[in-house]
Amino acid sequence: MVREVLIYPDRRLKLVSKDVENFDAQLHSLLEDMKETMYASDGIGLAAIQIGVAKNVLIINLADEEGEQSPEDLQEIINPVILEAHGSVTYQEGCLSIPSVYEDIERKKEIRVRYFNRDGEMIEKDLDSLMSIAFQHELDHLQGHLFIEKLSYLKRKKFEKDWKKKIKEGK
Ligand code: CO
Repeated sequence: MVREVLIYPDRRLKLVSKDVENFDAQLHSLLEDMKETMYASDGIGLAAIQIGVAKNVLIINLADEEGEQSPEDLQEIINPVILEAHGSVTYQEGCLSIPSVYEDIERKKEIRVRYFNRDGEMIEKDLDSLMSIAFQHELDHLQGHLFIEKLSYLKRKKFEKDWKKKIKEGK
């Protein structure tokens, strides 16, 4: 089922999500809803809190070399943690909770991560490139953070002003 995506400044986006304890049908149905919602909004990543569920669940589905987003590349990531991080990289990020806003954000370049799949199996791997960036962006959501918090003071001020205007105009 396609769910409503929470839009900034919805206060629920500030909640700190909790670990999943049961890898059961309820989790699987949450993952299905997240997948349908992400595809319906043309996103490459979604955290559960973006549909109002404060659980440590995120999904990422990057496009392949041909620019196609294939469902078989979908990553389901539960209770994620970053074990190690190296280097830095800047990339223009966007977010389904802040539509049409794109900003250069600095992240760690390479990360080693640990998480669980939908069946509760533990996975540990090294990520780089866009996968590493997307993982860090979505993990921030689980901790109640948004990418605009990483903007400089002046850029953030400009964003808030433009965003208020946009909401007022109902766009
Ligand atoms: Co986001």
